[in-house]
Amino acid sequence: MSRIKIAVLVSGGGTNLQSLIDAGEELTGEIALVVSNKRDAYGLVRAEQNGIENIFLDPLGKTDSEYDSELLNLFTDRKIDLIVLAGYLKIISPVLIEEYRNKIINIHPSLIPSFCGDGYYGLKVHEAAIEYGVKCSGATTHFVDEETDSGPIIMQGVVGVDFEDTAESLQQKVLAIEHEILCKSVKAFCEGSLEIVGRRVKTRRD
Ligand code: GRF
Repeated sequence: MSRIKIAVLVSGGGTNLQSLIDAGEELTGEIALVVSNKRDAYGLVRAEQNGIENIFLDPLGKTDSEYDSELLNLFTDRKIDLIVLAGYLKIISPVLIEEYRNKIINIHPSLIPSFCGDGYYGLKVHEAAIEYGVKCSGATTHFVDEETDSGPIIMQGVVGVDFEDTAESLQQKVLAIEHEILCKSVKAFCEGSLEIVGRRVKTRRD
């Protein structure tokens, strides 16, 4: 079986991307392309430092579907099998979802269905969790569908929330879990051990 070719979309610092890069051969798939909608995204620098093709695709003056059509051309030309949204803060349009149904994985820094959906991104997620007073939080990987943060859940990881925690300290705790479950989720996809049953995901154990 030829290795799964992965494209990673980033908008910011790229620590999730870095965790995939650091996983190396363990991932069993190949990170072939990194694309960002932000010219100054540090994720692009991480890709460059690791010899991975990286592109800033400027969204200026383009509708979401025009932008995603350009993304689709990049992916088709490179025979991309899997798209990973690693801190990518731009809406994915039906253009891409239809072409890559159940082949787009997103990481979200909460235990979906809590603190997710429109407006819940970055530090805002952790501010809401702290304010609500939850005792546990965590991260979720899921397949992307037409709604925000609503596709079939692949994996979740939990962290305890202490009374002293701030949104910033919680964000750091959750980021460590994100790196762990994102690598495991991508590896499971690349090994073909994920099965979607309705809106649930079964991870086939050997
Ligand atoms: C992560 O918490 C991710 O879940 C969220 O944005 C943050 C970005 O992290 N969508 P990084 O750019 O991968 O460091």
